[in-house]
Amino acid sequence: MKVSEKCILPCGAVLPNRLAKSAMSENMANPVFYPGQAFYQAYKTWVEGGTGLCISGNVMIDSRYLGEANNVVIEKGLDNSLELKHWASATQNSQAHIWIQLNHPGKQTPKFLTKEPVAPSSLALIPPLDKMFNKPRELTESEILDIIERFGYAAKVVKESGFQGVQIHGAHGYLVSQFLSSRHNQRKDQWGGPIENRMRFVQEVYKEIRKNVGPSFPIGIKLNSADFGKGGFTHEEAVLVAKSLSDLGIDLIELSGGSYEAPVMTGAKIKESTQKREAYFLEYAAAIKKVIKCPLMVTGGFRTGEFIHTALEEGNLDIVGLGRALCLNPEFSKQVMAGEKVVSDVHPLSSGFKVVDAIFPLEIIWYTMQIHRMGAGKRPKPKAGVYSSILHSAMDIGVQSIKRVRS
Ligand SMILES: Cc1cc2nc3c(=O)[nH]c(=O)nc-3n(C[C@H](O)[C@H](O)[C@H](O)COP(=O)(O)O)c2cc1C
Repeated sequence: MKVSEKCILPCGAVLPNRLAKSAMSENMANPVFYPGQAFYQAYKTWVEGGTGLCISGNVMIDSRYLGEANNVVIEKGLDNSLELKHWASATQNSQAHIWIQLNHPGKQTPKFLTKEPVAPSSLALIPPLDKMFNKPRELTESEILDIIERFGYAAKVVKESGFQGVQIHGAHGYLVSQFLSSRHNQRKDQWGGPIENRMRFVQEVYKEIRKNVGPSFPIGIKLNSADFGKGGFTHEEAVLVAKSLSDLGIDLIELSGGSYEAPVMTGAKIKESTQKREAYFLEYAAAIKKVIKCPLMVTGGFRTGEFIHTALEEGNLDIVGLGRALCLNPEFSKQVMAGEKVVSDVHPLSSGFKVVDAIFPLEIIWYTMQIHRMGAGKRPKPKAGVYSSILHSAMDIGVQSIKRVRS
């Protein structure tokens, strides 16, 4: 298919083209979790740049459990509806969609934010992450039911605020993905054990959201093609989960991979040959595409217009997800659709010192700084040094949190 072709979702909603901005945590809400003018500004820029579907950075459903210090939160008792409505208006009545990604971090909430994280089972992250993240407590049945309800409530607020869809964050080692993993989920009740039980949580989250938003509102999920860690969620299990959610009526499945323990989502530890040919997870797409009825989006590693056209024409995916490329060039999508020879400026980041690179999650803080520039109405700065992003991050969220920001 062609990049500028419309995409009709099972619920009937229509995406104007085949390019999507994948979720990137903006980390710029105010201290009481409100999204301010900067969110509107950044998303208006991406919409004007031609991207048909813009998925927000992860928005949390419980203010007790954040992934980053400055997350937006949607929960009962928190009235940020005016700010959410303003953010949603960034589509400027165009055909573009803005969807909100809903998330619960589970055990992936840093020590400085949460003393006692919760997870399917009480198992710590592997060293050295166990120094930055506290060992979680096992969730009780009533807490699991409360979280499911929270996803539904947040989705209802998203719809009422004027956004065009929601995405469940089911990837990258957060709570939904912890339930799916046989390593992180060692429960003996109906929520653990065989994959049929481990996928019960995400199925219930989907059903609760659908109950709250009705049949014609888009619901998507970001899913790992595999966990890429020892003993985690396998590719065969990913195929089963994708099929089950598609059978339940989900509208879009986005494929990614990895977790904090194996951060392959941004290309770390991905084979050099895979990095070179772009699209880290494309080899997993065909098996999933065979068993689902909804469109498939693949994210991670797309860097050139030429490869994007080829991937779409080959037909193993329906939507191309773009992250960092859109932080450096918000008009990337428009240029790809115009058939220009576009090559992204995304490049490996290093401070030149192994110790500094190991302490600071450069891949996150440098791109977060670019998002903050866009939020302030400035152009991204592809030539910015990594030390300026360390300084920016230090000033923004406090020195103690830098080490703990998502890797
Ligand atoms: C600054 C930054 C923040 C991110 N935050 C999220 C997030 O909130 N939710 C999510 O699903 N993925 C998040 N990601 C991962 C991206 O969505 C995407 O999967 C990854 O960057 C690979 O795509 P790319 O090679 O096109 O950048 C983030 C990535 C970056 C660089």
